[in-house]
Amino acid sequence: MEYQQATVGAFFLPEHGYFAQNAITQLAIELEERGLEPQGHTQRIVRLCESIGNMLGLHNESMEALIHAAYLHDIGKMMLPTKLLLKPDTLEPAEWDIIKTHAKWSAIIAAAIPSVHPRAVAAVLHHHERWDGTGYPSYLSGEQIPIESRVLAVCDVYDTLVSKRAYSRAWSPHNALAEIQSRRGEHFDPKVVDAFLERALGKFTFAS
Ligand SMILES: [Fe+2]
Ligand SMILES: [Fe+2]
Repeated sequence: MEYQQATVGAFFLPEHGYFAQNAITQLAIELEERGLEPQGHTQRIVRLCESIGNMLGLHNESMEALIHAAYLHDIGKMMLPTKLLLKPDTLEPAEWDIIKTHAKWSAIIAAAIPSVHPRAVAAVLHHHERWDGTGYPSYLSGEQIPIESRVLAVCDVYDTLVSKRAYSRAWSPHNALAEIQSRRGEHFDPKVVDAFLERALGKFTFAS
């Protein structure tokens, strides 16, 4: 595959900058290759984030952080037991607590990559916070949650729903959008949901 050639080639390049830049994308690809994220998930949410970020008028720095965060949001899953991540049965509360630590690990890894925008570290750490304050890890609510995390959360959940996973079938785009809308103002920032739906309605034709 093309990315494998790039990875192998990278080992013969002495520039640290090349490694640092590549870490952002290669780590995400590795996560998908291990089956810990749906195939193509990262590239799809990068594109979704780019488009929603632009619709919301995010400034350049914020856009850069958003894209880095889209690549690295779940990279902390590498630190967790694969068996637990792919467990087909319902997770015990203690197992959920372990899964939740992936946000912290993702932020730790993101912070260690020199080319990652500093705002992306917070964006990654808080990508599972909820607008109503019931998310994790910090129970932030509303605009306390970095805007990059709020955009990422909607794009991430949407793409996860419409993707086929080891333990569940893919939702139809129609049902996934209805789910996103139903969580407006609870899980998700209302203005991000509005932008997301506006974009989606331009792309899909809904059967009544
Ligand atoms: Fe996550
Ligand atoms: Fe994800």
